[in-house]
Amino acid sequence: MKWMIVEKGEELAQVAYQFLKQEIERHPEGLTVGLATGSSPVGVYEEWRKDSLDCRHVTTVNLDEYVGLSPEHPQSYHTFMQEHLFKDVAFKESFVPIGDTEDSVRESERYEALVRNRGIDIQLLGIGANGHIAFNEPGTPFDAKTHVTELTESTREANQRFFDRLEEVPTKAITMGIGTIMEAKKILLVASSERKAEAVRDMMEGVATTDCPATVLKRHADVMVILDEEAASLL
Ligand code: GLP
Repeated sequence: MKWMIVEKGEELAQVAYQFLKQEIERHPEGLTVGLATGSSPVGVYEEWRKDSLDCRHVTTVNLDEYVGLSPEHPQSYHTFMQEHLFKDVAFKESFVPIGDTEDSVRESERYEALVRNRGIDIQLLGIGANGHIAFNEPGTPFDAKTHVTELTESTREANQRFFDRLEEVPTKAITMGIGTIMEAKKILLVASSERKAEAVRDMMEGVATTDCPATVLKRHADVMVILDEEAASLL
């Protein structure tokens, strides 16, 4: 695991974007970039939108989506991606799991096959305060494929800020599994703020355990972690 610490969130976004950009430029023949939602990648997407990088050879696949929210729902991850990135950057094609299908298990299987067929060249990740990656909560097996997951109360509470009330936060999500994420050739994880300090310490210094899903990344050969000083404060 390689890592670097930068002073502030702003710098983190710039450094992380440059890392992604380099990868995109290294593959003019085309590549698949795995994208994340949440606050962590917002600054990275801002940098991306400001740049005039040609991304028409880039396919994007997102990590997860809430079960029950249609792509048009204001809090869906489809809408998040549209607002933060897709509205200004033209990609070859972009995929996010569909949250409001009749059969979410089937949708998970379809999405797993879609991701596997393309193969992720670089995956952008955030980390939850409880160490979750995508929506793989503590206890998720390390070999899990894309699946429907029950969100923990702490994750629902953490994500409540995007909704009006806690009751509106969905209880389930479709998420790429830890096994799916580990198939990515390269992984770039970004974390900022003190809220992430404990999870970051466990990920970097603890043993690999399903109690803290991010610890699995120790077993991946090509991971870059970019932290701000607050997120790195317990290292
Ligand atoms: C969310 C997402 C994750 C994200 C994490 C941290 O629930 N499913 O992909 O990395 O939690 O979110 P944030 O960056 O908002 O702290």
